[in-house]
Amino acid sequence: VCHDISTPVLVVGAGPAGATTALLLGRYGIPSVVISRHRGTANTPRAHIFNQRAMEVLRDAGIEGPVKHVASTKEQIAHVAWLHTLNGEEYGRVYAWGAKPDRIGEYLVASPCEMSDLPQSVLEPVLVSEARRLGADIRFSTEFLSQRQSSDGKIVTSVHNRNTSETYNITSQYLVGADGARSRVLDSLEIPIDGKSLSDAFGVHIRADMTQYFIHRPGSMVWILNPDAPDWSSHGSIRMVRPWTEFMVSMHNAKADTYHEPRKEDVLKRLHQMIGDDSVHIEILDISRWTINDQVARTWHKGRVFCIGDAVHRHPPINGLGSNTCISDAFNISWKLAYVLQGLADPSILDSLTAERKPVGDGVVRRANTGMLVHRKLWALMGSTREERSIVSNTLRSATVEGAALRKRLRTIIEDTDDEFNALGIQMNQVYSASSLTVIEEGDIRPDVSNVNLLKQQVISTFPGYHLPHVWVVKDSLSERISTLDLAGHGQFTLFTGIGGKPWIEAAEDVTREIGLPLKGYGIGSGLDYLDASWDWERVRGVDEDGVVLVRPDHFVCWRYIRAPADPAKRLREVIQQLLGLP
Ligand code: FDA
Repeated sequence: VCHDISTPVLVVGAGPAGATTALLLGRYGIPSVVISRHRGTANTPRAHIFNQRAMEVLRDAGIEGPVKHVASTKEQIAHVAWLHTLNGEEYGRVYAWGAKPDRIGEYLVASPCEMSDLPQSVLEPVLVSEARRLGADIRFSTEFLSQRQSSDGKIVTSVHNRNTSETYNITSQYLVGADGARSRVLDSLEIPIDGKSLSDAFGVHIRADMTQYFIHRPGSMVWILNPDAPDWSSHGSIRMVRPWTEFMVSMHNAKADTYHEPRKEDVLKRLHQMIGDDSVHIEILDISRWTINDQVARTWHKGRVFCIGDAVHRHPPINGLGSNTCISDAFNISWKLAYVLQGLADPSILDSLTAERKPVGDGVVRRANTGMLVHRKLWALMGSTREERSIVSNTLRSATVEGAALRKRLRTIIEDTDDEFNALGIQMNQVYSASSLTVIEEGDIRPDVSNVNLLKQQVISTFPGYHLPHVWVVKDSLSERISTLDLAGHGQFTLFTGIGGKPWIEAAEDVTREIGLPLKGYGIGSGLDYLDASWDWERVRGVDEDGVVLVRPDHFVCWRYIRAPADPAKRLREVIQQLLGLP
């Protein structure tokens, strides 16, 4: 029998967004109830690419180790190739996900974490079990029906247990809508979604040993441009789920945005055509339809309800930003909820979710949909019938002006996918420019990004609203190096200063004593807490040795002061009060 219950935070959805939120709240000791309409965690692989920013969140949450343990490595996702068939002619190949020899260093500079690959079906059980261990009450087969926010600051949510058909209420102070692309929570808030659903494709989840076709060019995926195909699957990709025995094969109709539900035997035939080898034994595990969206919710909160993840940003898998963005959304909202619930901040700070994360969501959705166009260009170039392809193939090999022009065109289009496969910038540059949760000192200068390719390159800065730069520092000659990101986070505000900055450290201790704010100060420099052994911090810190950089629990710089003022404690107190909306 289900009883009405109450909780500080109700999370609707146990996908990457919801489960990460519950896990992070658990780290703060904040209990939550999580409901999910499904029977359990994701039963299809879905989003895979795990970028450095998302891994930094899980590193902060203490589960980088277990996640890395089950993820495929960056070496296993190092290429993407375009082929006639899996066993046939290769048209071109790119290095992917940071494996490009001339760019590897940028990824090493960006983060203490590595790119990796992890299907949701493997990630979600790790998130859910850790969230449960930290006290989250996770209820599967439980559907959100409606919510009502009352004037006494409570939300009453009506939910339906799909196993027992019972309906009961969950009363909470806050509600997080992390219920995916068909979000009922967002609908219940009557928040409009800008953009549209574009077309449907379908994915075939298979088990097949294809080691011999991948081992020499390990990669997350190959695109198959084989024109011996029915319209419903004229182009497709074979996406590694587990190397090299489990795959998700996407099939697209390049000609029309119509959807056709093929028969299983036709799918099997087409799979063998894509592989080019009928002897490969294929077990079809699942066939699922999915929608290519181009949508962002106009606002991400209303009252005490906050929406994150696919509930508010929906886009195709290009650039692999799906679950990564969800995990970063969760990092953003969790510390704010925890601080408000612990009485350390005014509830008004929660409204910064939209100002901070919506521009990120807008950028991700725009990029993923723009990236799709490059693939369509390539499909058009290669032709979609046998006759067209035979002309293209012959021209590609001919020593003629047309042949040279076509070869150049093919190369240019394939190289344009670099915006998809080596886009460090969009992964790392999540800048909160319009945030109320940052304080910018008069005269401080924003980094000049006019000559930066923001899609490809990371901007490293301590200007408020930027992510804390990752720098390795050392404690002493006997200890291992540690990242600035490891010193920051973990639920605390962090302050970095250098030689001459002792008053800031003392001020931090005073603030912690006076208002109970978890604020830890570190001196970086000779004889201080950590040594900037390679002067990397000096290069990026953006302030003088006795200046200060203040970092929020989610790794974002919220304030910096160029040098020590006459009364550092007074200015620090004012800034903290302003940031957290304290009287
Ligand atoms: P997600 O959709 O993962 O989870 C939603 C949660 O809300 C679930 O727990 C669900 O049960 C719950 N829920 C929904 N409605 C509810 C209700 N009324 N009541 C209670 N609970 C409710 N992305 C990518 O980058 N690369 C890829 O290859 C793919 N492939 C892909 C394939 C398929 C088939 C799908 C459906 C999606 C993808 N995606 C993808 C998108 C990717 O899966 C997506 O970005 C993330 O899963 C979004 O995570 P969320 O946590 O926001 O929602």
